[in-house]
Amino acid sequence: MDSRPDGASLSLKLGLHPLGASFPVSHARQTAASIRARKGGVPVAALTAYDHPTARLLDEAGVPLILVGDSLGMVVLGHPDTTHVTMDDMRHHLRAVARAQCRALVGCDLPFKSYETPEQAVANARLLMADGAGFVKAEGGREIMAQVRAIVAEGIPFCGHLGMLPQHVVEEGGKYRIKGRDDEGRARLIEDALALEAAGAFACVLELVTPPVAAEITRQCQSMVTIGIGSGPDCDGQILVTPDLVGGFPWFTPRFVKPRLKTGADIRDAVAQWVSEVVGKASDDKDGPSCHP
Ligand code: KIV
Repeated sequence: MDSRPDGASLSLKLGLHPLGASFPVSHARQTAASIRARKGGVPVAALTAYDHPTARLLDEAGVPLILVGDSLGMVVLGHPDTTHVTMDDMRHHLRAVARAQCRALVGCDLPFKSYETPEQAVANARLLMADGAGFVKAEGGREIMAQVRAIVAEGIPFCGHLGMLPQHVVEEGGKYRIKGRDDEGRARLIEDALALEAAGAFACVLELVTPPVAAEITRQCQSMVTIGIGSGPDCDGQILVTPDLVGGFPWFTPRFVKPRLKTGADIRDAVAQWVSEVVGKASDDKDGPSCHP
């Protein structure tokens, strides 16, 4: 057994994939409880996935938490923001990810307007769990507390999302603004985080929260794991939108991300090269291809 930087065992056992292929299984199966148990310990390195091969690759790389985020709308479906994403969109992509049978804990966003009441939140959370989610995530603090309590009461693990709430970007005038800059914003975020923890959330994403406030929430919440995105280093974990990390959406990269690859540019180059080979071959072969011997 090797030891990995994230502390999980790397036994590289061969798991049996539903399609018959075997692939390395590189870490222990994760649950909301095992993620929560990392509080104050091994940081949670989380990423998003929207399709089967990406989920498998992340899992094989030892990512313990994979989110089918509603960023789907922007980085896969071509919408200007996440408010266009539907339950059908989320379920379709979640099922593709779930087929990867990850050892990572796979979660899924409840999309815009899918958790307006406790009853609607529970009904939609149940659908996502039936599609293979291991937890659901929704945006907001005390204003969605009845929904959070109802989801948790169903035994469905819940992850909060505070700070910049992309589902509210239209109300914010289309701007993704940093939160927690003034005393009022700081106090609101801390109260919301404590309320989510008290309601039973096992984790909470902190998006674009000022680093001191994210650190304070992380310190004050004793049983809820904080997972930061653009919120500084002092969270219990970090999450990124995978295309941002690998340069898969080269038209926009958030300021706080340093891409590790240029997959978008590489795809463009490889395709352009192949196109010129095909075009060159066609102009060499003046009679064109023959279907008959
Ligand atoms: O939708 C998403 O991908 C998210 C992450 C940015 C945390 O919510």
